[in-house]
Amino acid sequence: MRKYILLIISILSISVLLIAFVLKGQDSAEVASPDGSLKVEFSLEKGIPFYRVTRHHQALINSSRMGFILKGLPALDKNFKILKVDRTSLDEQWTQPWGEVKTIRNNYNAIVITLEEDEAPKRQMMIEFRVYNDGLGFRYEVPSQHAIKDFLITDELTEFALANDFTAWWIPAYRKSTDIEMDSEYLFRKNLVSTLTEKTHTPLTMQSGDSLFISIHEAALIDYPSMTLLHSRGTTLKADLVPWSTGVLVDVRGSLKTPWRTIQVANSPGGLIASYLILNLNEPNKLADVSWITPGKYNGMWWGMHMQKNTWQMGPKHGATTANVKSLIDFASEHNLSAVLAEGWNEGWEGDWVANGNFSFTKPYPDFDLAELSRYAKEKHVGLIAHHETGGNVANYEKQLEDAFKVCQQYGIHRLKTGYVNKMPGGEYHQSQFMARHYQKVLETAAKYQVMLDVHEPIKDTGLRRTWPNMMTREGVRGTEYEAWSPGNPPSHTTIIPFTRGLAGPIDFTPGIFNLLFDKTSTFRVHTTLAKQLALYVVIYSPMQMAADLPENYEGNPALKFIEDVPTDWEDTKVLNAAIGEYVTTVRKDRNSADWYLGSITNEKPRTLTIKLNFLTPGKTYQAEIYQDGKGADVNTNPLPVEITRTDVTSTSSLTLNLAAGGGTAIRFHQTN
Ligand code: NOJ
Repeated sequence: MRKYILLIISILSISVLLIAFVLKGQDSAEVASPDGSLKVEFSLEKGIPFYRVTRHHQALINSSRMGFILKGLPALDKNFKILKVDRTSLDEQWTQPWGEVKTIRNNYNAIVITLEEDEAPKRQMMIEFRVYNDGLGFRYEVPSQHAIKDFLITDELTEFALANDFTAWWIPAYRKSTDIEMDSEYLFRKNLVSTLTEKTHTPLTMQSGDSLFISIHEAALIDYPSMTLLHSRGTTLKADLVPWSTGVLVDVRGSLKTPWRTIQVANSPGGLIASYLILNLNEPNKLADVSWITPGKYNGMWWGMHMQKNTWQMGPKHGATTANVKSLIDFASEHNLSAVLAEGWNEGWEGDWVANGNFSFTKPYPDFDLAELSRYAKEKHVGLIAHHETGGNVANYEKQLEDAFKVCQQYGIHRLKTGYVNKMPGGEYHQSQFMARHYQKVLETAAKYQVMLDVHEPIKDTGLRRTWPNMMTREGVRGTEYEAWSPGNPPSHTTIIPFTRGLAGPIDFTPGIFNLLFDKTSTFRVHTTLAKQLALYVVIYSPMQMAADLPENYEGNPALKFIEDVPTDWEDTKVLNAAIGEYVTTVRKDRNSADWYLGSITNEKPRTLTIKLNFLTPGKTYQAEIYQDGKGADVNTNPLPVEITRTDVTSTSSLTLNLAAGGGTAIRFHQTN
């Protein structure tokens, strides 16, 4: 009898344990990074989904809300139970067809939590967390199901309840007041998260103390609006999706997979740059043949337009004439540039082109002989870069899209710069789902016609270049052009960009201006020294880099050699030192030779930085060709002097870099034995 009683007791206690396990399993789930340093805990509190994140057992993100509010339907944010939790892990390496590094490790642990509502209609929603050593990503999925099909989202509830009051470098997002919505072309501001009063763009990069750096962004933004962040209370930020003109945020057809919400974490600013989490969270390359995708440098008459020396429209100062483009092709072929950008080649620039947005993307101006230029460029082994400025008139562009790309195909054009200056008709935002669909359509059409893209006034970069490697570079930043016709960019600007906008992806910043003091009659000028212009080719990553100045400003200047030499495709990248907003030193190894390149830049303060060259291959000798601020150089009073010196170095050498106020140093380490 006693035996039976004991058996019953033990069966009962096992069931209690089982029930407890199941109950615990139903309310929460957790997953840690492969090295165990980061841990995500998902939980349902009275059926409401929350997540929190710890790092080395300390809170990084406190309990944060998840879910959606829908239009005309009950919200997808409560009354949930956990149906199941699936676990996966991955540790693989993949190769970028081009990039800032060749090989990337993709190593994470993941959980997919399937939620179901307690009561009818018993809708299901999945949330997946992928946890890496350098951060995490999570996304929602509402699979195709009877209980919910097409629906409209009026709020995404995702929060980031930061455990510390981080200092953030931020720019405002989708301000209604901006006249033409040059979204994301702002100078960065630095504030405590608790004091932010405006919606901010991502990547939102933040610092707490000396050794905690995080950046919130997103990956794989497809058919969904961009996420901006709004301070909601204390140190909590909330997702604020860029709306349609109707006020709705997301139009879901059939099923939904959101972009990944990402949080990158590092001990140093450079650690954020060494994180390839955004790319890892994108799907692998979809293009079978990538032989036509080639990084490189380009020139054009672009700066001439911004200097008002040339015009886009046909007339006495027309920039894109056959003769002018031919001489730019000659310059490109003599100076190791692979392509020439012809802005203003097509009809439609007359009058107020921003307001009109009435461009043809197939008809060249009569003084631009496309057939002859295509022949001449081919003969000189230089590519032509077409230009499609839409003036925001997306409907006009989409009508011509196939024909426009057929013109590229017909003339062997594999590179295209697009532009979206102006709000879209109807008031749609650049960062909205409406535009996400448009940009994606152009990207996939470009891939079909073997065209690489450089998008200006883009939707933000979320790493889609992994999936469509013809997505080369984009603007989405306050670039060099602001130096031509505005108070310009203070020297600190470029010491912030690599850690903010740069984490999203490549930037067409258009460096390389030598004629820094172009207009003696106005206050407009470029706010760097000349050596810093060179350093920017290494510090700001882009697989298409412009030699932005006009040929006459380069001719005869020995500093041009650095622009000729510097590659745009890298095997490896390292940040040697950095303080966001103050200075940064980056080195990159050429993918096609044994050479390394260095770019070091400072803000308005002069500084001396000593660097160890232990990134070089041990046992090899390199000639360091150093372009540094010359004697008396200073961004305000004397920006032009550059001193070029050569010295032999090895991996055990150190170098002292002397950066002038607003200055920089650029170095080519050429392996000699
Ligand atoms: C603004 C772009 O950023 C600039 O590069 C371009 O020259 C003009 N739009 C005209 O398309």
